[in-house]
Amino acid sequence: MRPLDGTALDGPALNLAELAADARGRLDPVHWDFFTGGAGEERTVRANEAAFARRYLVPRVLRGAVRRDLRISLLGTRISMPVLIAPTAFHRLAHPEGELATARAAAEAGTIMVVSMAATRPVEQIAAAGGPLWFQLYPQADLDFTASVVRRAEAAGCSALVVTVDSPVFGRRERDLRHGFADLPPGMVCENMRDASGRVRDIGMDAGLDWARITWLREVTRLPILLKGVLHPADAALAVSYGLDGLLVSNHGGRQLDGALATLDALPAVVEAVGGRLPVLLDGGVRRGTDVLVALALGASAVLVGRPVLWGLAVGGAAGVRHVLDLLHADLDRALALAGVTGPADLRGDLVATVACG
Ligand code: FNR
Repeated sequence: MRPLDGTALDGPALNLAELAADARGRLDPVHWDFFTGGAGEERTVRANEAAFARRYLVPRVLRGAVRRDLRISLLGTRISMPVLIAPTAFHRLAHPEGELATARAAAEAGTIMVVSMAATRPVEQIAAAGGPLWFQLYPQADLDFTASVVRRAEAAGCSALVVTVDSPVFGRRERDLRHGFADLPPGMVCENMRDASGRVRDIGMDAGLDWARITWLREVTRLPILLKGVLHPADAALAVSYGLDGLLVSNHGGRQLDGALATLDALPAVVEAVGGRLPVLLDGGVRRGTDVLVALALGASAVLVGRPVLWGLAVGGAAGVRHVLDLLHADLDRALALAGVTGPADLRGDLVATVACG
């Protein structure tokens, strides 16, 4: 396991573990714990990273991989690398500009930011700061309100909906309970939860969420819909039959069901069930270019990063997030060259070997 709490060096972080250490020194400890922690014993938080540590690369040689091309297309959007920004809540806790800074960095780096429904800036302002954007939705029990949020995301120019389905109830995050962390500071709200009267609603988790709601959502919007939080191959097969446009293998970074399988361990069965009919994305524990390479070799079309973006934001606003994306881009490029691979389309499962423990 790579430590999160090492001592940062002087100068820009050389890797995301150093960046985490720097962020820890700058953040209110309550907010550090909110950003970094997970549910229960945090087994799944640790498992996500440990799953990468169990994979080793079997590089090819003498392949003349002089020029690598990291670009990919996802649901019609061309991006600079197969790494996107995962939806995370409350960016203003990390930096005063909040999601506006994150969006600028994503736009500069040429990748997609997935805007959280729990963003602390309005989606319209985030869109004005940068793009391309996708919008993450927690379907609310109030269907009219849910539809109005989708309309807002569409009007702001978001080009896909990411529907989070791993949260029928809130996960139990003991670090937050210990701190009594429940509310945002005064003046900060979930801006995308305003209703027509301007009142800000609480985000509700809906334990009644089912496939019928996905059918309903399909009729509400023409945007491509991805399901976020799928681990079981049977659900992946259902997603294909319900006409979804993409899947995100995720356990919410270990913040919902503690003990849920590491995403990298869940990926191969999901990829097999989908059989190439939809793009399969993955998040959870991606911290190095080699992690991206491994996930893609095992069948992911792209990966997303959550916590590292918050650390970058805390350390340097937009420049800090840009640093995270630049580190991953450079690291992936070098890993491809060293593995004898010219780009994402060239990655195959035979580049990865799994060992019993890291
Ligand atoms: C999240 N995540 C999340 N997911 C989502 O669908 N909507 C949300 O609002 C949030 N909010 C959120 C806040 C914080 C502080 C974290 C750390 C995570 C989950 C996120 O999208 C993603 O699944 C994980 O963060 C990926 O794991 P890593 O990269 O953080 O290990």
